[in-house]
Amino acid sequence: MNIAGPRAEHIANLLGFFTGVTAVIYVAVTAALVWALLRKRGRAQDAPASTLAAADRRSRVVIGAAMALTVLVLIALGAADFFVQRYLFKPPENPLRVIVTGHQYWWEVEYDDPDPTQRVRTANEIHIPVGRPVQLDLTSRDVIHSFWVPAITGKKDLIPGYRNTEVLLADKPSLYTGQCAEFCGLQHAKMNLRVYAETPEQFEQWRQSQLQSARAPATDAERHGLTVFTRSSCVLCHSIQGTDAGATVGPDLTHLASRQTIAAGSLPNTPGNLASWITAPHEIKPGAQMPATALPPDDLAALTQYLVSLQ
Ligand code: CUA
Repeated sequence: MNIAGPRAEHIANLLGFFTGVTAVIYVAVTAALVWALLRKRGRAQDAPASTLAAADRRSRVVIGAAMALTVLVLIALGAADFFVQRYLFKPPENPLRVIVTGHQYWWEVEYDDPDPTQRVRTANEIHIPVGRPVQLDLTSRDVIHSFWVPAITGKKDLIPGYRNTEVLLADKPSLYTGQCAEFCGLQHAKMNLRVYAETPEQFEQWRQSQLQSARAPATDAERHGLTVFTRSSCVLCHSIQGTDAGATVGPDLTHLASRQTIAAGSLPNTPGNLASWITAPHEIKPGAQMPATALPPDDLAALTQYLVSLQ
């Protein structure tokens, strides 16, 4: 397991401690049981009364010691758990705040800021700066999902009508993959998420680019693609900042081309995959809420060209 942050490290250490202690107890109890079954026993009625009394005393001592040891082990496990929880639940200092909303079957991501012009909206791919804690506010639009990026944090449920919190903290730049960890419907397994931990400079660069409105269409094909987008069912669910598309049912597509994957990590973000996803989403994710959109080939090609221009 590749661990890349102090939070995940605390959780892994706790798991290792519990596993080690319980493994030793399991072996000891099994050995005691085997020893008790195999040892030679004399017949009790042949033994003198003094020997029986001595054996009785020995039994009491052994049972008493085992009980005391059990209590000590439980206290040790409880204390280890308490200190790890205390660390995990301590509110982070100067966190970046990100609101993650679960949907069947994708992740809505909004970078919170007191200044509304500084809020970034994206989906399924979360960029974070290394070394700075990221406070996640987790909720859900439909059913219970669960946020889990094991290399950098523990697991936390996203519950409709309720706000849970979790903290992400990565100490080296890398891509950390995660997965919805609560069965949420047919496409639960294709509800992946990707966390890109970057240097603070790279993160700021990414944030600034995401704050821009969508790139205006530059060619005739791209202009036609935008017209197709706003005249087809796409516009009923998706937003593209700077155009008339402002719906929030599906992912914000303002910077779609800056994302590596589509359909919550199901496919690499390529023009061919985008066209397949638009025309036949249920062949890729049966049960997904995105409706199939039939388009004439020219319109589909133009729409795809427009979408891949949205850097
Ligand atoms: Cu969302 Cu499983």
